[in-house]
Amino acid sequence: MKKVFLYYIVALLGMLVPVQAQNKLIINADQGKEVISKHIYGHFSEHLGHCIYGGYWVGEDSPIPNTRGIRNDVVKALKNISIPNLRWPGGCFADEYHWMDGIGPRSQRPKMVNTHWGGVVEDNSFGTHEFLDLCEQLGCEPYICGNVGSGTVEEMSKWVEYITSDGDSPMANLRKQNGREKPWKVKFWGVGNENWGCGGNMTAEFYTDQYRRYATYCRNYGDNRLYKIAGGPNRNDYHWTETLMKSAAGQMHALSLHYYTGSGNNRSATQFDETDYFNTIHSTLYMDELITRHATIMDKYDPQKRVGLIPDEWGVWYSVEPGTNPGFLYQQNTLRDAIVAATNLNIFNAHADRVKMTNIAQTINVLQAVILTDHEKMLLTPTYWAFYLYKVHQDATLLPVAFSCNKYELNGRKMDAISVSASKDAAGKIHITLVNIDPNKEQTIETELRGAAVKNVSGQVLTSAHLTDHNTFDKPNTVTVKAFNAAKLSKGTVSVTLPAKSVVMLEIE
Ligand code: AHR
Repeated sequence: MKKVFLYYIVALLGMLVPVQAQNKLIINADQGKEVISKHIYGHFSEHLGHCIYGGYWVGEDSPIPNTRGIRNDVVKALKNISIPNLRWPGGCFADEYHWMDGIGPRSQRPKMVNTHWGGVVEDNSFGTHEFLDLCEQLGCEPYICGNVGSGTVEEMSKWVEYITSDGDSPMANLRKQNGREKPWKVKFWGVGNENWGCGGNMTAEFYTDQYRRYATYCRNYGDNRLYKIAGGPNRNDYHWTETLMKSAAGQMHALSLHYYTGSGNNRSATQFDETDYFNTIHSTLYMDELITRHATIMDKYDPQKRVGLIPDEWGVWYSVEPGTNPGFLYQQNTLRDAIVAATNLNIFNAHADRVKMTNIAQTINVLQAVILTDHEKMLLTPTYWAFYLYKVHQDATLLPVAFSCNKYELNGRKMDAISVSASKDAAGKIHITLVNIDPNKEQTIETELRGAAVKNVSGQVLTSAHLTDHNTFDKPNTVTVKAFNAAKLSKGTVSVTLPAKSVVMLEIE
């Protein structure tokens, strides 16, 4: 009788006090198969606002320290996150850009109006040679997006020839006249941008035919091998993916995908409440569903997974900073955005079998920038520090994980409180990146490492007192990375308590 009574008491307590799910992570450290392409950590920079002009390019005569017109501070900062590739010149700008306007003596280059972005005059002082010089200074691979919307097949074909042809060809000779003897190596080539929208308002069927036609004349010169990237769908336009894959998969190496977190409504980058934060993270997590569904369509036509899926524009899109040109898309960047970036990067890693590259929009002074500049001043945003922590995953082997965790709840809505990714690098070091999405509670995780003998754990953390915290030119180090010594190793298990609203990178040897 006593026992039965006790049982009822325990059961009743169980109903009254909800038992917290355990955060439990198991990593099979010897079971990795997929390599996380370093190109997942790529960037996108457009002729938009102060991304190119003022961001990278200040000109050779500027008092701001530069190498052939390109800011030294920016190059150093981007090298420090091992930027693997850079997509250029757009964006919507790509489909009205005529590359021949951007070669030859700068004083003689024609001007144009940048109709998409603020209606400002583009003087073409930053063109093909300057962009490829920038990539050489950064030590990253160029990803050039050609003009399908308002260009011609001939124009795109000649651009490839100008950049990559070695022999005695008309475009190679023109390049030599303009001071560059040797061809550049350019692998990543985009055939149009958002051709369902600013890139020509085409139907999926029309673009598919155009893609086949343009791609045919993008030739391989010498030993340069193009990796042709078709202009892919907007968000959940599955018909676009189906149409392209059905009729053009054989002519492409990859398909792009564009999805911005929380675009389209009036929301401040720095002034927001917890509901707005919850919605932003919820919208971020949708990336996982988008990749899964587009990849399912791709699997039907390409079961070998030869064709990559490339989210070559992603990031948060808020209202511009008060008082700035609405066409310049200049926004601040808070701890919330670092959490968005880190969560997205964990999602991309998890899909490393199909996702071969991504490009955050946009590197400097535009949307979810990693760098902000103000004339000679420069600051690194919280998103920059997320990329800094995650560079350890570049070209490492994705490790399979079994994971269960608590929920972060707000007003009856729930999501997983933790996002995780793990990889093993060429030296055998294991890296785990963890995001505690919950802004109010710390989370303790037990991590069991199977298939690895480990001796030491160290880490770094990115957090701050408030989600709205951000770096300014007066206070550039409010949100930055610090050493993290809270992880403990005991008999192959790593125990760690993640601070609320934080990104943590653990290194295990
Ligand atoms: O990144 C800003 C713009 O967003 C790009 O130019 C365009 O491709 C997208 O709509």
